[in-house]
Amino acid sequence: MYVPNENRYDHFSYRRVGSSGLKLPPLSLGLWHNFGYYDNFETAREMIHTAFDLGITHFDLANNYGNPANGSAETNFGRILKEDFPGNLRDELIISTKAGFDMWPGPYGGSDDNGGSRKYILASLDQSLTRLGLNYADIFYSHRPVPGTPIEETVGALATAIHQGKALYVGISSYTPEQTQAAANEAVRQGIRILIHQPNYNMFDRWIEEGLQAVLDQNGIGSIAFVPLAQGLLTDRYLNGIPADSRAAKAHQFLEAGSVTDEKIKQIQALGEIAEKRGQSLAQMAIAWVLRENTTGGVKPVTSALIGASRPEQIRENVAALDHLEFSNEELAAIDQILLWDKNLGNNPWHALALRSD
Ligand SMILES: NC(=O)c1ccc[n+]([C@@H]2O[C@H](COP(=O)([O-])OP(=O)(O)OC[C@H]3O[C@@H](n4cnc5c(N)ncnc54)[C@H](OP(=O)(O)O)[C@@H]3O)[C@@H](O)[C@H]2O)c1
Repeated sequence: MYVPNENRYDHFSYRRVGSSGLKLPPLSLGLWHNFGYYDNFETAREMIHTAFDLGITHFDLANNYGNPANGSAETNFGRILKEDFPGNLRDELIISTKAGFDMWPGPYGGSDDNGGSRKYILASLDQSLTRLGLNYADIFYSHRPVPGTPIEETVGALATAIHQGKALYVGISSYTPEQTQAAANEAVRQGIRILIHQPNYNMFDRWIEEGLQAVLDQNGIGSIAFVPLAQGLLTDRYLNGIPADSRAAKAHQFLEAGSVTDEKIKQIQALGEIAEKRGQSLAQMAIAWVLRENTTGGVKPVTSALIGASRPEQIRENVAALDHLEFSNEELAAIDQILLWDKNLGNNPWHALALRSD
């Protein structure tokens, strides 16, 4: 039987989410990959235990996680909750889920241009809660903006989820600064607030510095940065080719082997040298960089870095990043020199769909 580590809250301090009353750990664990039907259940279970024992209280899901068996990450996590987190342990967890991408057939299942409709969002939340075995999600997200769907409708569905008691807080993911401001305004009009934004952010893709962080700050909205390790590229995983057990080597994954280019490897090697001088692994420095205080323009740093993992050791290594979050100006300048990022949001995989016009 799993008995949580009694010192689990001794590792780091928790960060307030925007101007809300909720706090999140600086590192959160996402279940997009490695927690589905085709993955090893006992390894998944061990990763959840490892994370919670280290003070990670926030687990992030979505209706479609567990690819290619969409929904199976929620089913597996629901089983782990039921078997290992009985009783009041539920109150020590922040569990999020999302609706926005393709989930079931037909015009109400989230494919193409229907991932923002009231019909789809509320049905999807019910399905997620059933798979998770929960009465409510702590945070429920609109997983992406859907051009052609009025923001009143999408935000209205999130408001209904709160009023029904099926979500405590709501968030948005991959919305541009303009879409975020529109959602924040509409939320206030409907008597709720957007708690948090979930954007992709890492040393290879800094788009949120170009306006989004300022909008979040002005509206008291927190942020949780997904893919802080660029799906594993910002680690020492790919320095000597593509390992057989890595994400880039597996079928049905979002990281294609073709993304591991010679140019990227050179950047990774140069970043690894800076990390070594800091006494960190590259993964640890990449996480510390996402959470750094001294961001461009003085805007507030992100609330939490949302990592993925394929084994418990990666979680332990990544939590140790929190022991050294400070960067000197010289280190930041040296990192900036190495990074080149594509500012065209149309080339960002999480925006390409959202930016489509009808
Ligand atoms: N809102 C959205 O649209 C959206 C989109 C994508 C993701 N997300 C969220 O963000 C979460 C994280 O995404 P992600 O898994 O792509 O994030 P990530 O943290 O950038 O990448 C995780 C991968 O990096 C490798 N890794 C992790 N720690 C390592 C270490 N210490 N040393 C070496 N390799 C290490 C592992 O790859 P291997 O598997 O190769 O070992 C792991 O699977 C997801 O689970 C999901 O919750 C949200």
